[in-house]
Amino acid sequence: MDKQRQKPIVLTGLQPTSGIHLGNYLGALQNWVSIQDEADCLFFISNMHAITVPQDPIELRKNTIDCVAVYLACGLDPKRSHIFVQSQVIGHAELAWILSCLTPLGQLERMTQFKDKSGRQAGEFVGAGLLYYPVLMAADILLYNAHLVPVGEDQRQHLELTRDVAEKFNGIHGPLFNIPEPLIRGNCARVMSLQNPTAKMSKSDPNSLATVFLSDSDAQIMKKFRSAVTDSGTEVRASDEKPGIKNLLHILSGVSGRSVAELEMDCAGMGYGKFKTVVAEAVIECVRPIRVRMEALKEELLYLQSVMEEGHADAQARANATLAKVYDHVGFACGKNL
Ligand code: AMP
Ligand code: TRP
Repeated sequence: MDKQRQKPIVLTGLQPTSGIHLGNYLGALQNWVSIQDEADCLFFISNMHAITVPQDPIELRKNTIDCVAVYLACGLDPKRSHIFVQSQVIGHAELAWILSCLTPLGQLERMTQFKDKSGRQAGEFVGAGLLYYPVLMAADILLYNAHLVPVGEDQRQHLELTRDVAEKFNGIHGPLFNIPEPLIRGNCARVMSLQNPTAKMSKSDPNSLATVFLSDSDAQIMKKFRSAVTDSGTEVRASDEKPGIKNLLHILSGVSGRSVAELEMDCAGMGYGKFKTVVAEAVIECVRPIRVRMEALKEELLYLQSVMEEGHADAQARANATLAKVYDHVGFACGKNL
């Protein structure tokens, strides 16, 4: 750990594409909020990752600023943490290039997310950026020498690649990078779709009932939970044969902070109809204050910009320091100005 910094460095981010959903909140954002006192935290908005699939520039800019509002509404605190936009910091793309030269092509081709996303675009245009995506992610993390990376389960493989490439760099050029650990916590590391509990909840699900967005109204949330797919039984229990009920119990545990065992006891004999309403009500109570804060913050453009600027200044200084060392290790001519 960096001697001057007593606290571990935590870095993470998400992509500013369309709506942020309950899976993002319970699997990621909620954990980020709770780690702010224990760590030196950097939270960024990965707009450079977002363009690995086609984006409308006007939408992307709007979603990026809205994402800052979501971060703050969820409880990220710019007085304790640094919040910034990836593309504003020079260094992510530069380090990604250097790391790409150390990353085996085969490992990138084996990434589950790449296979999924490129498979879904079969016959259409697939940009090389989709393949290269985990290298950029490794650069994001190593540029700040992060110790811990809180993410949902779906990012575990990308973290493994980051660790491999950091070890490879250190092995060739001498120790420079910390080997970062993923921080994947709780029952909600993989929140499932409400319509297909064997697939993860995702913002791009074509079934509009599958995903609960933080921007959804109380009535929309109720409707989505009331139509959640379960099974033909009656018992409220978190077993693998009941993936729908298990998912709902995990969500209820995530929003209430209570254990699944406790909830199973409370909800025993309730019947699925009543249980779904109980879950919906708990989610509504959790999401409503976030939605209200989010709407108010979206109007505070100058404030959001000032948060991004402060975060950018701090992040750029750290990125410059790492990049200068990397250039030196690699043998690039004098990195004095970087
Ligand atoms: P993304 O929406 O892909 O930008 O993901 C942002 C963060 O949310 C990452 O840490 C993901 O691992 C996490 N995440 C995305 N979907 C889910 C889900 N269904 N359940 C839990 N975490 C998720
Ligand atoms: N790939 C992550 C996602 O889709 C977002 C991300 C980009 C990220 N760079 C990162 C997360 C670095 C953690 C650390 O959710």
